[in-house]
Amino acid sequence: MSVSKMTFRMTALTAVLALGLAPLVQAQDNTGPAANPLIVGGEPVGDIADTPWQVALVGGGEARNQFCGGSLVAPNWVLTAAHCVDSPLWQNNPERLSIVAGTLTYDSGGELLGVSAIHVHPDWNASTFDHDAALVELATDATMGMPIQMQSPEEELPVGPRVRVSGWGATSLGGPGSDELLFAEVPVISNDECNEPESYDGAILQSMFCAGEREGGVDACQGDSGGPVDTIIGDDDRLVGIVSWGQGCALRLKYGVYTRVSEIYGWAGETMGMMMEEAK
Ligand code: ARG
Repeated sequence: MSVSKMTFRMTALTAVLALGLAPLVQAQDNTGPAANPLIVGGEPVGDIADTPWQVALVGGGEARNQFCGGSLVAPNWVLTAAHCVDSPLWQNNPERLSIVAGTLTYDSGGELLGVSAIHVHPDWNASTFDHDAALVELATDATMGMPIQMQSPEEELPVGPRVRVSGWGATSLGGPGSDELLFAEVPVISNDECNEPESYDGAILQSMFCAGEREGGVDACQGDSGGPVDTIIGDDDRLVGIVSWGQGCALRLKYGVYTRVSEIYGWAGETMGMMMEEAK
């Protein structure tokens, strides 16, 4: 593992651990040809009905200190990244964590939902970021927003076509979060290509996939973690990824790395106590 990647991971983790609220940044970088001093490649979602499963993970109750994203996968379950919630702060006090659903502006509107339990994937590895997935169990069902179905192992995520990633990213690196939910569309890259020496040199595991432009310029970034990557499979929208990590943001050949939902689908089904037909 490269030193720079390690540094990035430590930085992201430290921010989450220390503050419980990492600054939100979406796609900021000055080296790609498509570089933009504001949000690189992002656009406002505009209507929560377009991504009704998007939720914000917040601390501080009514203060709504947003630090990660997540997706409703059932009325009382949110899928997010393990690295968002694996700190002792949340593990020992799940009731301090809340979920905001049903709004494009996490700090107003929608509904604030309490959390009853946090389930981190048993194979989560904080040094390799393998299986970066966790399920947050809500104290009450969400009445706003709408769950999305997870991609099952039988459903293929094609390499090449674009997927959509969304989150409340800041408009400059290290800057304040965007009040408005943003999205970007990025092409899926094969794990082989993403494991080339000039990209991640073997760090992309089976439980991950990469998406982004070869030249950079469009990406998720710190604070978007845990949030959804969705695409149409067959006729329906499927949750195919969880924002996980990347080296910098929107850098050439340093694609965004996402948890591959089909790889954590079995665990999620078991954890939610609803074994899917396929698992029989
Ligand atoms: N780990 C980051 C977070 O905690 C997300 C990083 C995504 N980076 C990227 N270049 N796509 O918010």
